Amino acid sequence: MEDELKRFGVSMEASLLERFDGYIRDHSYTNRSEAIRDLIRRALVEEEWAHDNETVGAINIVYNHHVPDLSQKLNNIQHDFPGEVVASMHVHLDHDNCMEVIVVCGQANEIKGLADKMIALRGVLHGTITGSTAGSTFKPGDGHHHRHSGPGHSHD
Ligand code: NI
Repeated sequence: MEDELKRFGVSMEASLLERFDGYIRDHSYTNRSEAIRDLIRRALVEEEWAHDNETVGAINIVYNHHVPDLSQKLNNIQHDFPGEVVASMHVHLDHDNCMEVIVVCGQANEIKGLADKMIALRGVLHGTITGSTAGSTFKPGDGHHHRHSGPGHSHD
């Protein structure tokens, strides 16, 4: 069902509005409303993560698959969080390095814990979590949903 659009007035200093219009141009927005909506959604996503709410996100890691046992350790950690890991994609970047993108959902702190465990492993070169939200609680399957896609799930 489509949400009704509501209008409201915003007052701000001319200098602040000027800087905001610069931001709008730099980020290719075509109008202020869409930029304001995105900023509000971003703030609400930050709230979800700050208050350990149910949320969704993606963990991105780059690692050297020649490091002994690393692929296995990363796999084992993900299997310790079957309710949180929704899907993962593995990309062989070059001869040495792999990238894995893991889509996660669940309590924000659980997801952070999962990411921290993987990022802290020796041989993981870079790792990030991108927090997102659907604005509602996303429940894949019965909480035991676990899927892998892409080539080379295991290749050590
Ligand atoms: Ni690989």
